[in-house]
Amino acid sequence: MPLKVSDQIRTRVASGEITAAEADRFGAFVATCNRDLMTHPVITNNRFCEWFARGEADRDIVRHFVVQFSVFSNLFLIAQLQKCINAGSLEGMRASKEILANEIGVIFNKPGAASKAVSDTDREGDPAIVSTEGTVDGGTFRFAAAHFEWLLRMGEVLDLGFNDMGKRRHGTPSTLFFCDQLSAIYGSDDPNTAEGASFAVENWAAAGFWKQLVAGLDAFKKRECPQLPLAFFTWHDRIEEQHAGHVMDELEELYFTPDFDEAKFLDGGRRMLDGVQAFWTGLNEHRIAAAYS
Ligand SMILES: [Fe+2]
Repeated sequence: MPLKVSDQIRTRVASGEITAAEADRFGAFVATCNRDLMTHPVITNNRFCEWFARGEADRDIVRHFVVQFSVFSNLFLIAQLQKCINAGSLEGMRASKEILANEIGVIFNKPGAASKAVSDTDREGDPAIVSTEGTVDGGTFRFAAAHFEWLLRMGEVLDLGFNDMGKRRHGTPSTLFFCDQLSAIYGSDDPNTAEGASFAVENWAAAGFWKQLVAGLDAFKKRECPQLPLAFFTWHDRIEEQHAGHVMDELEELYFTPDFDEAKFLDGGRRMLDGVQAFWTGLNEHRIAAAYS
């Protein structure tokens, strides 16, 4: 779906906060993002996810997929930490820490919301019940709430042990290329490059691939693996759904900051999408090769 400039830009012009020429310039930039980034095949035509959603993946394909995802999930922590360290403002650093701390097991705290009663403490940190909203500030840390541990529990059902998952050595070259590009571009010390990569990652995530993965896994679970916990994937789908709406606001905010550089932003975004594409292409080639072996 192409990006659309929100109505609030007109409000900002009317209030004199920005000029009409600036608003036009922003509109032209959004059009460029639509042309240069949103048409990337990883957003418009993710072959692996489209195939996976049909529910035809067998146990070996699902195992391979879960292992590669676990490598991405763990190595992503490095990129996210770099993003924290390289943040251009305290606010940016905190926004990055929200993601990092939540990844490693800090449950979001939603002030004002009645906390869900957890009668069975063993379930604390279970993605089926932890919040997708709120802040890690004041949140509770639980080992079991680490996203990697959610994947470990999935792996258990597929006979994958702790040392079969999440390490660099378990990654295929295309998975590792993706993870290394995340560190280099998403975690870049050049703020415009990093912001372009962030924007790209957010749009990729908002393009609906979590739903396709959930659909495929759900079919596999029903067909041959009733014990398989899917909450890692359903939790991420829920959080992305909320986040998708903020992407445009964030771009608008960023665009009018003094150091914004269109070319660097677009370059970071484009290169990051190519990195993401490598991950899915690797998975797609693996499943095609498996089908003919
Ligand atoms: Fe995660």
